[in-house]
Amino acid sequence: MVQKLLAGNWKMNGTRAALEEVRALTAAHPRPAVALVLCPPATLIAAMADLTRDHPLAVGGQDCHVAPQGAHTGDVSATMLVDAGASHVIVGHSERRADHGETDADVAAKMATAQSAGLIPILCLGETLAQRDAGETLQVVTSQLLGSLSPEADPTRLVVAYEPVWAIGTGRVAESGQIAEAHGVLRKTLSERFGDNGDRIPLLYGGSVNPSNAAAIFAIADVDGALVGGASLKAADFGAILEALQAA
Ligand code: PGA
Repeated sequence: MVQKLLAGNWKMNGTRAALEEVRALTAAHPRPAVALVLCPPATLIAAMADLTRDHPLAVGGQDCHVAPQGAHTGDVSATMLVDAGASHVIVGHSERRADHGETDADVAAKMATAQSAGLIPILCLGETLAQRDAGETLQVVTSQLLGSLSPEADPTRLVVAYEPVWAIGTGRVAESGQIAEAHGVLRKTLSERFGDNGDRIPLLYGGSVNPSNAAAIFAIADVDGALVGGASLKAADFGAILEALQAA
């Protein structure tokens, strides 16, 4: 049985006023039946963790540096995220890969740092539209997955999110057959690599998930939850997606 998980990625959105949405979400869903994670900008992690101290909602970072500290202006380390109250961290998001040139090797190093600091990494991967059109999707996601796992990777503290780049923030959701195919290949690869532990790694879909399409996405085989961007900013929308996952 795989733990169902709903994660929200606020990206570079939200000031302290946005904590009202978290207050509303946790008040409306005091005892969620699935794991719930919100990844706000680094400036809000400590405040969100304080606010949700008595609620099962977990807080995550959106990236971490590979070093524990040092001369890296503007970066945040995994130990700092833990210190601020985070339990999770997104690594390898396509916006980091595109905006900061992160490679699979960089992502593997971040995964290792995150796990050794005690964080649960949410590893993101997915093909571009050009790669899909060229028929390379399954090969791309498999090689991103294997390339992002260091030899020491701990499968018991890991989440994987399949996010087709062309579906992120575009309102365009992958078709259910496309999601099932990618998730099937990722599940098989994780099982081959980690055995039974690989079967228990939550596999999330991400890319324009919203309250209207969530139930259909959660009905797809090997989809254990979602990583939600835009629709995680509003408590009502994120709460509706949570209800769809609880009902799935
Ligand atoms: P979106 O973002 O839901 O706004 O498409 C998903 C993500 O980037 O994690």
